[in-house]
Amino acid sequence: MKRFTAWRRRPWAGYAVVLAALAAIGVIYAGFSPRTDRAEAANATQAAADLKNGQQLFEKNCASCHGLNAEGTKDAKGHPIAPSLLGVGAAAVDFQVATGRMPAMNPGAQVPRKRPIAAFDTTIRTDYEDEAKRKAAEAQKAQAEKNLADLREYIAQLGGGPSVPAASAVDPTKGDVALGGKLFRTNCAQCHNFTGQGGALTGGKYAPPLATKDVTPTQIYEAMLTGPQAMPVFNDTTLTPQDKQAIISYLVQTREEPNPGGNGLGRIGPVSEGLAGWLVGLGLLVLAAAWITAKKPKKLKKS
Ligand code: HEC
Ligand code: HEC
Repeated sequence: MKRFTAWRRRPWAGYAVVLAALAAIGVIYAGFSPRTDRAEAANATQAAADLKNGQQLFEKNCASCHGLNAEGTKDAKGHPIAPSLLGVGAAAVDFQVATGRMPAMNPGAQVPRKRPIAAFDTTIRTDYEDEAKRKAAEAQKAQAEKNLADLREYIAQLGGGPSVPAASAVDPTKGDVALGGKLFRTNCAQCHNFTGQGGALTGGKYAPPLATKDVTPTQIYEAMLTGPQAMPVFNDTTLTPQDKQAIISYLVQTREEPNPGGNGLGRIGPVSEGLAGWLVGLGLLVLAAAWITAKKPKKLKKS
């Protein structure tokens, strides 16, 4: 013990201890780090591959109109052919591609909703009886979902912009339906009609019907967030995320409610029903009165 104490007091002893500690840390670190490095490297390779896939999909399907760097293109006279996508964000890409609007096919007053192209078609049916057929369809759907995600990521990293809303933000069972109905009538009904049946706008444009199951809650949110074509943008100060969720709940729940009495009369409530009652009821009374008065003179002449 005495010898050790003496050794401990030597001037170089402190350095020796520090060196030993460093060596020990080095050994421990070496034991752990290669694995995390490898995992990080694998993640980075995967991310780069995803981005590459997104870029290739963009070059193949979109660059002809939107430009190789998504900067937009103009014709010889300087009129825009397609807008720049820098800053439109993942939400706009998701909306445009998942609703089949993009890639656009032929120029017209408005790019219509259609079935997405095969590479992005996440709506294909997978409910086949046949095992092999079902597996193939499921694989195709998974690939389409990955393609769409990669393309979104590619455009988003070029210029930022709004991202796709979280699933909880568009859950139609969570919003205030009564508030949603009120907000819909003040903000959306002038174009989309009182219960979302859609309607014509000027110049061959139209607001599409929203009362169909094809329009998903995510797409409703993204439409408000990005304002496609003739539709205005409803940013988070105009309609808070809660307001947006309320509108989604209203739209989804009214379209899922059956019409128990047959024709829903536009589903705008007692006003239309009262009007129908008046018109039909009064019409019948008028007809009856006309019939009675028309019969009388003949009878009078005979008697
Ligand atoms: C045939 C030409 C054409 C092709 C191909 C095309 N687009 Fe477009 N895109 C347009 C035009 C034109 C508009 C503008 C529509 C409008 O707002 O009137 C547009 C608009 C958009 C918008 C909305 C921009 C905004 O400001 O909100 C997005 C996002 C978009 N395109 C993404 C894509 C993606 C992604 C692809 C490839 C999958 C694609 N487009 C392929 C012509 C095209
Ligand atoms: C000025 C008229 C106008 C107003 C107001 C308006 N929209 Fe739209 N909306 C449109 C037009 C036009 C389109 C079609 C755009 C396109 O095809 O790119 C559209 C498209 C949509 C779509 C996509 C439907 C589909 O078939 O893919 C949704 C969802 C939508 N609107 C929801 C709303 C909601 C919710 C509101 C209210 C917060 C609203 N809109 C307010 C004009 C309007």
